[in-house]
Amino acid sequence: MSEAEPTIYKGLVGVYADVSAVSKVMPETNSLTYRGYAVQDLCEESNFEEVAYLLWHGELPTAAQLAAFQKEERANRAISPALLSVLRAIPKDAHPMDAVRTAVSFMGTEDPEAGDVSDAAQRRKAMRLLAKLPTAVAATNRLSKGLEPIAPDPSLPFCENFFHLVFGKVPQPEVIKSFDVSMILYAEHTFNASTFTARTVTSTGADMHGAITAAIAALKGPLHGGANEAVMHMLKEIGGPDKAGEWIHGKFDHKALVMGFGHRVYKSGDSRVPTMKKYAEKMAEVVGDRRWMETSRVLAEIMLREKKIHPNLDFPAGPAYYLMGFDIPMFTPIFVCSRITGWAAHVFEQAADNRLIRPLSQYTGEAQRPVKPIGSRG
Ligand code: COA
Repeated sequence: MSEAEPTIYKGLVGVYADVSAVSKVMPETNSLTYRGYAVQDLCEESNFEEVAYLLWHGELPTAAQLAAFQKEERANRAISPALLSVLRAIPKDAHPMDAVRTAVSFMGTEDPEAGDVSDAAQRRKAMRLLAKLPTAVAATNRLSKGLEPIAPDPSLPFCENFFHLVFGKVPQPEVIKSFDVSMILYAEHTFNASTFTARTVTSTGADMHGAITAAIAALKGPLHGGANEAVMHMLKEIGGPDKAGEWIHGKFDHKALVMGFGHRVYKSGDSRVPTMKKYAEKMAEVVGDRRWMETSRVLAEIMLREKKIHPNLDFPAGPAYYLMGFDIPMFTPIFVCSRITGWAAHVFEQAADNRLIRPLSQYTGEAQRPVKPIGSRG
């Protein structure tokens, strides 16, 4: 008797794998909310630390709650000498995402509560990761350029400290605001590939560092977080707005992907793009270089007119980070420093109402057959 043909949802398209109260994407209105708050409102009315608190606790913090959260984050920023020597041992030309993945895995071995997967311990581990990731990311970047890492400054807020760690100085408030907005917009986005990876690892009973290590591996791919780097490489390859038309039609001729466009869920516009674009434009003003935003404008117009495909968040975030002065291989590690908040929120949620994630596959291989002794094969 033959089995009934199962329906295959390739890429899990259209599949609801679980419920979640962390965030909601509404493709019909191109909107995104975190715990019920529209992201664009969070960008204008709060900051990344408040949003991290919101994602982990379900409510925006009061002034006292925020102060306690910031105190804990600032107290946990230092990385160990052992981790620093691991980062020094990583080849200088390794991709920083591989270094960050290794750093998180190593932090898991050092964590004082390594074997404890209780909710309280997992929350403390998430805080340690939030605090230490910028230190590790910046150290990786500086070491790759033959520079010494800089120690975190506990007197500085999260975003200011990030610039201090990378550049040894804090830029003007407009730059900090643009960076802060990017961190809010990158923080969370429902069941994307890396978040689903983190939930799958958590569903086995594994710990926070294991889930985040796996999530970083998933985020590196160019179809996911790696697109922000690919966008900037593309803009540099094009060189300027006057060359964008010819360049993109060449891509169409070869049916190639144009990075920073398209989205699995949003088909008529990514809710995060207008806000990120506004702050990328501000960066172009601050730096006095409109070349990348103008090139982006031409590409977006042609993609919409000829392919009906809209840009995603990585499209304005790539040039924004470049204009802030970050090296291109830093872009996806910066995304990690933000998305740790969303990943951890999903790890807490998955563990609180867990069922092992284990889908089925339809077998298409050989029919069952006998194993022949080695001498009679071939
Ligand atoms: N450039 C050119 N064509 C694109 C495109 C892009 N960036 N994104 C989608 N398309 C085309 C597809 O080729 C497909 O065309 P077809 O119907 O002729 O085969 C059609 O649009 C539908 O796209 P599909 O591949 O079904 O979308 P998906 O939901 O499977 O994939 C992405 C979504 C994000 C993986 C895809 O849009 C992509 O690879 N984008 C570039 C990478 C990127 O920016 N990633 C960041 C995501 S936030």
